[in-house]
Amino acid sequence: MIKLVVLASGRGSNFEAIQKKCRSREIDAEVVLVLSNKSDAKVLEIAQKENIPAKAILPTNYQNQDIYEEALLKEIQLIDCDLIVLAGYMKVLGSRFIQSVKVPILNIHPSLLPSFPGLNAQKQAIDYGVKVSGCTVHLVDEGLDSGPIIAQKAIPVLPEDNVETLSKRILNEEHRLYSEVIQYFALQKIRVEGRRIFID
Ligand code: GRF
Repeated sequence: MIKLVVLASGRGSNFEAIQKKCRSREIDAEVVLVLSNKSDAKVLEIAQKENIPAKAILPTNYQNQDIYEEALLKEIQLIDCDLIVLAGYMKVLGSRFIQSVKVPILNIHPSLLPSFPGLNAQKQAIDYGVKVSGCTVHLVDEGLDSGPIIAQKAIPVLPEDNVETLSKRILNEEHRLYSEVIQYFALQKIRVEGRRIFID
């Protein structure tokens, strides 16, 4: 059973989906800590209901990003976790944090990367006029949504789609894909060779 620390800033639907599958043993993992950079994030409430330790660490309480991330790191290092899972964590992690952490950091993004990184990926896809978008689970590196890709799911963009309808369909697939990838980690099926990631 691998141990996960989840970092999230908002509504927490990805965390909730992952936690549900941990609870039902569909994935061999356990969420041991949820950290948020927002004190009113819904994800904290969901974690509390699930009896998972949850804490807000607010960047505004620290002098700068580096010091904030040191505090984050301290919390994480108190726990012996195997994987850090970003689930709607709306801050870019600095290189010091990424280099200090000894376990993989995963992120999920609502587009087929490398298309449409950054904020409002679903709107970017609609505005660009692509016919297919989707979601991507990737390892976190020092860039913006630029780390090696682990898995992707393509989703058609329909003529009648707006940001809301497309986001909803993508989100359903996010919930499935993220859990799937975490299970690959739990089963030690992930092999990294530079930018290429293989699922054995
Ligand atoms: C998701 O769309 C995810 O791809 C992006 O942020 C959103 C988080 O949603 N990184 P939720 O908080 O998990 O519901």
